[in-house]
Amino acid sequence: MTPTHGSSTPAPTSPPGGDGRGFFHKHLLGIEGLNPLEIGYLLEIADTYVEQNRRANKKKSLLKGMTLINLFFETSTRTRTSFELAGKRLGCDVINMQTDASSIKKGETLLDTAITLNAMHPDILVVRHSESGAVKLLSEKVDGCVINAGDGRHEHPTQALLDALTIRRRKGRIEGLTVAICGDILHSRVARSNIHLLTTMGARVRVVAPPTLLPAAVERLGVEVFHDMRRGLENCDIVMMLRLQQERMRGSYLPSVREFFHFYGLDHAKLSAAKPDALIMHPGPMNRGVEIDTVVADDIHRSAIQEQVEMGVAVRMACLDVLTRKVRETELKNGGAS
Ligand code: NCD
Repeated sequence: MTPTHGSSTPAPTSPPGGDGRGFFHKHLLGIEGLNPLEIGYLLEIADTYVEQNRRANKKKSLLKGMTLINLFFETSTRTRTSFELAGKRLGCDVINMQTDASSIKKGETLLDTAITLNAMHPDILVVRHSESGAVKLLSEKVDGCVINAGDGRHEHPTQALLDALTIRRRKGRIEGLTVAICGDILHSRVARSNIHLLTTMGARVRVVAPPTLLPAAVERLGVEVFHDMRRGLENCDIVMMLRLQQERMRGSYLPSVREFFHFYGLDHAKLSAAKPDALIMHPGPMNRGVEIDTVVADDIHRSAIQEQVEMGVAVRMACLDVLTRKVRETELKNGGAS
């Protein structure tokens, strides 16, 4: 049986005769359940695309004739544009579905939308939705491969991969590093995917947040919990800041934004507890003066925030490449593709 999900499924077996390296899932729904070899393989492919993207001629015709639909039920700047660029740089046709201008506004359900789009034979569907689990549900109703571009508080696998690529290129490794993920862990799919990826790859992960912004029993994910920011940052190699996801908050989680910044906002004083060469990361969008001080965010010696955006395109190209490989090879064998 072909494995269908990059999430909650056993590690896939390699095809007969293979050397075990590769990525043989049909979809990329999450980092949970992926093994270090699969993650390492995606990062290796992404590395080659970083180089391609730095050349004047950035285009390849690898996915020529294929169609990618970006289906975003939530707002996005970086993720949607980078998937669009990634598809175009690989020669794919890309359609951006505006959910506020589509039948979804007229009451069409998620599954009706999926079935309708499926009838147009997209090869890849990139989906973002506010409900955890919605992308997996959709993947069960369509023929093409599905990439989770963020589902509720659950997972955001390509963000974790691009963060890993940034770390690996800057630090030369992931294993053995100490990474502090700080801020609104409770509502963050970025935190969840990063915790899965970094612990799988052998990093020590700390979460730093007030008790109200931590999921129950978070230590079961293999992380160390800190409520004091300076102690949480002590001697760490990477400081990963998260946005306060106010749009997901029902009720009161904080006394005030000002107080949050005082205790948990990253400024140079708190950063001094980390290693002198500790890297500052943020998935964006940033709320300056809320979770991060503007001077720290723009510190060109410490901040890798713009590099994360660059790595985002390369990682998404790698995902499109590996997920469509089987279909492309079958087509080639049948003499259908040029
Ligand atoms: C993140 C997201 O949407 O989960 N953003 C992103 O994809 N770059 C984080 C956030 O919105 O704060």
